[in-house]
Amino acid sequence: MWSKSRILAIIAPLVFHVDAVSHARRLPPEHSRALHGRNYITEATIADSYDFIVVGGGLAGLVIASRLTEDFNTTVLVLEAGESGDTVGDSINPPARTYYNSLIGTSYDWQHKTVPQDKAAGRVISWPRGKVLGGSAAINGMYYVRPSQIQVDTWKGMLEPSDDSAAWGWDNLLAGMKKSETFTSPSSDVQSLAKIQFNAASYGSNGPLHVSYPGFMFSVVGNWTPSLEAIGIESAADPANGKNFGGFVSTLSINPTNWTRSYSKSAYIDPLPPRKNLDILMSATVTRVVLGDKNSSGNVVASGVEFATSADSAEKVVKVNKEVVLTGGAPGSPRVLMHSGVGPKDVLDAAGVPLAVELPGVGQHLQDHLAAPVTWESKVQTGGDMHASGSDFSPLAMSFVNSAIAYINASILFDSSADFESNVASALDVSAKTLVPSQSSEVVEGYKAIYTATQKLTSQGAGQVELLLSINAPKAITIQAALQHPYKFAPPTPFLLNKLIRSATSQGRVYINSSSPFDPIVIDPQYFSHPADITLLREGIKLARRVGNSAPISNAFGAETVPGPDVSSDEQLDAWLAGVASTEFHPQATCAMLPRSQGGVVDAKLRVYGLANVRVADSSVFPLSFAAHLAAPTYGLAEKAAEFITDLYKVSANSGTTTAPDSASQTGGPGKNAASRICSSACTALALTAMFSFIVSVLSAL
Ligand SMILES: Cc1cc2nc3c(=O)[nH]c(=O)nc-3n(C[C@H](O)[C@H](O)[C@H](O)COP(=O)(O)OP(=O)(O)OC[C@H]3O[C@@H](n4cnc5c(N)ncnc54)[C@H](O)[C@@H]3O)c2cc1C
Ligand SMILES: *[C@@H]1O[C@H](CO)[C@@H](O)[C@H](O)[C@H]1NC(C)=O
Ligand SMILES: *[C@@H]1O[C@H](CO)[C@@H](O)[C@H](O)[C@H]1NC(C)=O
Ligand SMILES: *[C@@H]1O[C@H](CO)[C@@H](O)[C@H](O)[C@H]1NC(C)=O
Ligand SMILES: *[C@@H]1O[C@H](CO)[C@@H](O)[C@H](O)[C@H]1NC(C)=O
Ligand SMILES: *[C@@H]1O[C@H](CO)[C@@H](O)[C@H](O)[C@H]1NC(C)=O
Repeated sequence: MWSKSRILAIIAPLVFHVDAVSHARRLPPEHSRALHGRNYITEATIADSYDFIVVGGGLAGLVIASRLTEDFNTTVLVLEAGESGDTVGDSINPPARTYYNSLIGTSYDWQHKTVPQDKAAGRVISWPRGKVLGGSAAINGMYYVRPSQIQVDTWKGMLEPSDDSAAWGWDNLLAGMKKSETFTSPSSDVQSLAKIQFNAASYGSNGPLHVSYPGFMFSVVGNWTPSLEAIGIESAADPANGKNFGGFVSTLSINPTNWTRSYSKSAYIDPLPPRKNLDILMSATVTRVVLGDKNSSGNVVASGVEFATSADSAEKVVKVNKEVVLTGGAPGSPRVLMHSGVGPKDVLDAAGVPLAVELPGVGQHLQDHLAAPVTWESKVQTGGDMHASGSDFSPLAMSFVNSAIAYINASILFDSSADFESNVASALDVSAKTLVPSQSSEVVEGYKAIYTATQKLTSQGAGQVELLLSINAPKAITIQAALQHPYKFAPPTPFLLNKLIRSATSQGRVYINSSSPFDPIVIDPQYFSHPADITLLREGIKLARRVGNSAPISNAFGAETVPGPDVSSDEQLDAWLAGVASTEFHPQATCAMLPRSQGGVVDAKLRVYGLANVRVADSSVFPLSFAAHLAAPTYGLAEKAAEFITDLYKVSANSGTTTAPDSASQTGGPGKNAASRICSSACTALALTAMFSFIVSVLSAL
């Protein structure tokens, strides 16, 4: 870690404008390897049983494991399919490496793919997901954007009113999000150059996750909000406080003390001392939850979890004393449930998995954001130019990632949004009858509920399309438009109905088609299966063009290169979009928190219906798509999940917090101390290797 004086020495000479960037090359921060690995175990040292088994050491899983083990009497095992990521810190930690040396496409990425998408030119679309401690938060773009209050409250309104559902809604999720955060204001230079507006009081100040802004800024970012205002799109002065409408420069999950990515591993796990009650096992793919007898109220009790290193290796079972918490993410959690025999009967029968609990909603209700770019030649230097020229690899320069953003409502997108809304509204019943990829009446009811809630958000002015300013390519600037509230689960507008019914057999879901947990999961988002989706994204692309032609940002833009001037009519735009639109990496709702009568998978306390002691606590439970990025609400959800569990078991409060250094009294037993000694010499070697490969990559970039 850097000393404070060294950081100041580096910050001081830099001016926050590309013309004045320091050209000095600097080594990356020394990685504090000794901190890592203190709670890692091997299969040889795994215990027979744990109080809680967390399935997936991703964003949510590590938050929950860290919080539950604040009580020294509670034992937790984390099983993570991927590796720790400690040997590839140079790809994970410097924020800009998310563009220039990403782990996407490597063994740290699940490399999921969709099945061919009929309405997206038959394309197979790649669906990256982190396969590493920290999960997708280790490879994501670090945008840290909260949803708006009306969206979070609408989700609560979809639950059966009860003491349990009272735990949700804006105030509660906000408390969870704040609990996870420590906010740091931007430097005044960065703030004024980028015209950043924020209200520090809207953020947390004592949580493990760092939320801040880059230490380095480009002046074109400061042209974002004025150019939006020039065409009638207001700026959001306090976007974290429930109103994220309009344009703003968002916070990022960046640690400004050493300009590194902040994510669940670096925030919630690495700083911990050895905790003898926390074991983290990597290269452990959970193959199923082992289900046993029913409890006296008829719910099936999980007795343990089965895992294996690979398809060829033997499975092992570890027993659970209290609960299994599934945190495998939107593809991972429903997959484990289905392989455990919990899911839609037709899917399990076809895959050859014996049915234990029929739960038709598992894997259904999938919603995702879909994005496409408008790109211009750039007249100003971009982050991509700076990187391509190898001019500055200082930690400060490497802290720049894109963050200018806007959420646009239907009244901005359409001359008359009433026409759009009434088109969508008029076809609800037809859709529910023809477009749901399940025979289950419960799932159909869920589609109707999500559909109605989405309509309500449209009329209340929630963001329908997101615009993002991206300057990470050389000689080019992009404004990306992304659909936020997909209507793909919704009906076709009447005039297109006949055409759509023919392709209505499958839609928006993930499922298994084999009994081997190591075979790929089948992902079918049914992108653009509803005309409303292509209509919204097309209007978003037109708006992106208008922003690009609006001063002052237009001064930075040369000719439009993508899609280019030849693509202009609605028909041309729709055909182009079908060929290029891609995921914005925000899949959700595959284990939706909805009433069981609506194809729900978990109740308001995140308990899987029909199971006595299994929860899902990750991004797969949000039933309704947010106009936001998913990390912030998932941190909030994970904090709430940990509270539900500790409250239930009345875990004694005999410890410090995750942020405070833990007291010496909990320092681990002899096994753990031995393990950490082994790690510290091995980790020094790893640090040297990592530094060596960084130097090689700098030299080869010359
Ligand atoms: C490329 C990319 C860019 C993104 N950019 C942003 C962004 O800028 N801002 C933002 O807010 N969000 C972004 N996201 C989304 C965000 O990172 C995810 O929504 C979030 O990480 C989801 O958290 P999670 O805990 O549900 O799942 P994950 O973080 O994906 O964690 C799931 C974990 O479970 C493990 N796992 C799965 N199945 C098993 C199994 N059977 N056994 C053992 N382990 C298993 C996985 O390996 C993984 O570690 C991005 C995502 C991607 C992929
Ligand atoms: C950055 O600092 C945090 C503590 O604030 C630490 O956990 C993390 O390991 C550091 N990152 C690196 C790469 O040194
Ligand atoms: C610790 O946990 C054990 C087993 O779960 C339990 O019997 C015991 O009462 C707990 N002790 C405290 C102090 O909570
Ligand atoms: C939509 O956004 C515009 C511009 O920010 C705003 O003036 C308008 O009130 C919003 N519409 C609704 C219904 O909230
Ligand atoms: C499962 O579905 C995928 C994607 O459609 C396909 O490639 C694969 O062959 C299927 N597997 C089985 C066993 O049917
Ligand atoms: C059975 O499990 C359910 C769900 O967790 C729980 O509400 C119920 O209290 C359990 N019943 C008994 C008798 O343990």
